[in-house]
Amino acid sequence: MPPQRKLFVTTALPYANGKFHIGHIMEYIQADIWVRYQRMHGHMVHFVGADDAHGAAIMISAEKAGVSPQEFVAGISAGRREYLDGFHILFDNWHTTASPENKELVQAIYLRLQQNGLITTRNVEQFYDPVKGMFLPDRFIKGECPNCHSKDQYGDACEVCSSVYSPTDLINPYSTLTGAAPELRSSGHFFFKLSDPDVVAFLKGWTQDGKLQPEMARKASEWFEAGMNDWDISRDAPYFGIEIPDAPGKYFYVWLDAPIGYLASLKNHFDKGQAQNHWHPPSRTDANFDDFMADPAVEQVHFIGKDIVYFHTLFWPAMLEFSGRKTPSQVNVHGFITVSGEKMSKSRGTGIDPLRYLSLGMNAEWLRYYIAAKLNGKVEDVDFNPDDFVARVNADLIGKYVNIASRAVKFLEGGKLVASHVDRLEPARLVDTVKDLYEAREYGKALREIMASADAVNLRFDSAAPWKLVKEGKRAEAAQVCSECIEMFKVLTACLKPVLPELALHAEAFLKCLPLDWKNAAVPLGEGHHVGDYKHLMHRVDAKQMDALFEPAEEAAAAAQMPPPPFDKLRTGQASAEGAGSGKPGGEEVAPAITIDDFAKVDLRIAKILDCQGVEASNKLLRLTLDIGEATPRNVFAGIASAYKPEELVGKLTVMVANLAPRKMKFGVSEGMVLAASHADPGSQPGIFILNPWPGAQPGMRIR
Ligand code: 2FM
Ligand code: ZN
Repeated sequence: MPPQRKLFVTTALPYANGKFHIGHIMEYIQADIWVRYQRMHGHMVHFVGADDAHGAAIMISAEKAGVSPQEFVAGISAGRREYLDGFHILFDNWHTTASPENKELVQAIYLRLQQNGLITTRNVEQFYDPVKGMFLPDRFIKGECPNCHSKDQYGDACEVCSSVYSPTDLINPYSTLTGAAPELRSSGHFFFKLSDPDVVAFLKGWTQDGKLQPEMARKASEWFEAGMNDWDISRDAPYFGIEIPDAPGKYFYVWLDAPIGYLASLKNHFDKGQAQNHWHPPSRTDANFDDFMADPAVEQVHFIGKDIVYFHTLFWPAMLEFSGRKTPSQVNVHGFITVSGEKMSKSRGTGIDPLRYLSLGMNAEWLRYYIAAKLNGKVEDVDFNPDDFVARVNADLIGKYVNIASRAVKFLEGGKLVASHVDRLEPARLVDTVKDLYEAREYGKALREIMASADAVNLRFDSAAPWKLVKEGKRAEAAQVCSECIEMFKVLTACLKPVLPELALHAEAFLKCLPLDWKNAAVPLGEGHHVGDYKHLMHRVDAKQMDALFEPAEEAAAAAQMPPPPFDKLRTGQASAEGAGSGKPGGEEVAPAITIDDFAKVDLRIAKILDCQGVEASNKLLRLTLDIGEATPRNVFAGIASAYKPEELVGKLTVMVANLAPRKMKFGVSEGMVLAASHADPGSQPGIFILNPWPGAQPGMRIR
């Protein structure tokens, strides 16, 4: 039978500069449940994701890690599978926006927009870092807030008084990359003409015809009232991104190529020949990416968070429409996840580390269930409350659902079902209701319906009291009640299957039934069907595990501080929970191993800087007078004049090599060396940092 619907489903592409946090996992679980629900209908679904690899931030992170952006992104990508498999998130494909498919699609879409007269250019004045030689994104400029005068505020908004401004409003701005004062420079930029009357007319229709949640459609109307501005889609070199055709030194802004990455991942999936598999028997129109996307029956469905709605409901549909492509059928927006009411930071996540959750032996399906129980079809935030989590999982999943099977099977002789009146528990009504709720992403309501039905089954069991019936010699009656309960356990399993796929597999094995779907969900197993031996299906959450999740053990805290593993490990799939990093920390290989005896030859001492002077005729050196508890202070020259003013150092403690042979220099004899940290390529990284011991250390103490 041909599939009824053809769906192309995506989740927002995560930036390839950090690990997944619970916010990512929540979105993936939301989409994965919807996809699994659709597959239980027999619909064709291609569910794809990718890393959002481009942009200045990733370029700079890679540089700091001492690797190329490609290597950096590959390292992050290699760590994704552990999370996705761990939480049973079944993407058909995971790709990257830094891919040949994306480049080809981005350039093709851009050229079509250009042919349609929707690309324009104009000069833009922006801050430029003269030391680094690049235009600075807002996030890399800091300065004093023009409103409340707090120091060190970002170029786009003040974290103290929340005022929003542009970087040029900052007082005494500086580049966070080099510390240099940025200069205003003009450069030619490319714009997508979002203000074009045809584009505005299209978007006004598209945003209001039922593809968006009502609150999002209203938001779009507000944006139209405020007026559409053209969208700046270019960035100047150096930039990690896709080149704009016929515009040397100009790159597409990451937000232009990111959503096109959805298409690139799907194309990659088709090109690998994996789009036709057991889910999707071959058919002519679905043979390749272009044919599939040209099929008007294909629905394109995006799941995203509420912070990126503007990109997905204005820029993205307009880009697609005016380059002659299919536009999204649904953009499903969810709220943020808070933990015990606390907001999450986009970069740091929340107190819940998904991999730590798994490493504590916590069941991924507890989290899937809890998150699903909290989700609805609206743009509302979801709160993770640890006590509520324990209570719900234990009360609902174990207390209500799993218990039905374990209690009822005991009264079936040889696991054999007898004729029963399961209809009185309304399985078909439950299945129909739950299906509609899944379709509308009202998962919380669906689970409440399922649990209400489980309550009714338990009530039936308790009031019939089969254990008493058996004692009274009414075995047939007991078997009948328990057959009803097992039949309903099967219906409940089908209803929970999108949320609890692993548990459903085990329950199907126990029930000895075919894989459950919406067609067979309410069809009784029937008289004479034998179920298997009951094996425990799920454990209760132990509140201690929850404590451990929130009170990281010392090792976990240490792991969080540890430098990331080398990239070569990540690339070969040996990524560990500690995260991604560079094979060349600080831009250089770690030196060959030495013995402790070798190390003991170097005599390192705490030194007090008694005096510090500049050196005439040298802009690099400072002359330090150092006290290490000897009769006469030492005279040491140090190449740190670019980083410190003499007066900043006087009176401070630092670390020196006390047994370095004296060296005669142009300006005098240097009687030792102070230690300082710097990157192997000082031009690529800010500064030199001298060492400063913790309070309590005294001049002359040896460092060992
Ligand atoms: O906000 C983000 O995390 C972006 N990386 C989302 C991109 S979604 C899509 F456009 F790729
Ligand atoms: Zn302020």
